[in-house]
Amino acid sequence: MKFFIDTANLAQIKEAQDLGVLDGVTTNPSLMAKEGIKGQENILKHYVDICNIVTGDVSAEVISTDFDGMVKEGEALAKLHPQIVVKIPMIKDGIKAIKYFTEKGIKTNCTLVFSAGQALLAAKAGATYMSPFIGRLDDVSTDGLKLIEDIRIIYDNYGYETEILAASVRHPMHIIECAKIGADVITAPLSAIAALLKHPLTDSGLAQFLADAKK
Ligand code: E4P
Repeated sequence: MKFFIDTANLAQIKEAQDLGVLDGVTTNPSLMAKEGIKGQENILKHYVDICNIVTGDVSAEVISTDFDGMVKEGEALAKLHPQIVVKIPMIKDGIKAIKYFTEKGIKTNCTLVFSAGQALLAAKAGATYMSPFIGRLDDVSTDGLKLIEDIRIIYDNYGYETEILAASVRHPMHIIECAKIGADVITAPLSAIAALLKHPLTDSGLAQFLADAKK
């Protein structure tokens, strides 16, 4: 399973990259705003800065909601760096834009997926990645992990190559459950990835070994 970090914070991206297990980055307009990145020029520069830290795919989201606008924006984003993946919302024109980019050989990430039907359409359009938001589904009393299970079955039934990128991951158990189900990728905040390291028996066991080593 690939690990992406879900942030636009350069220090956190570097920390995750230094851990040696990072496969890519996802961003969205909210995460960019959180880092105070404003203005088109600064936004584009920030994506390049991220690409220069990591070796894998970096999702950069379009703001337009019409086909022509998404194509124009997406082409400009794709030209920025070979690691850029154009992130496109799951709307009618978004599906058309994904199909367009697929035919041009440009990687896409279909975002804001909340149902199996939407996931099926994204795969048919040829999306490289498809992002179901599991945490946001949990927030409205709907089982986000069940959606990942359903999409895994559907994609395997037909051999779709679109990768299931579990997004809106909130805690380490989301990551573990996604790995059990067979999600291709998870994107998570650094806190959730780092939490996988933790176990009190590791801490106490190490403390004991170090103490015994001094004897
Ligand atoms: C990533 O691609 C998504 O934009 C992100 O995971 C959404 O996460 P949130 O629901 O915590 O905002």
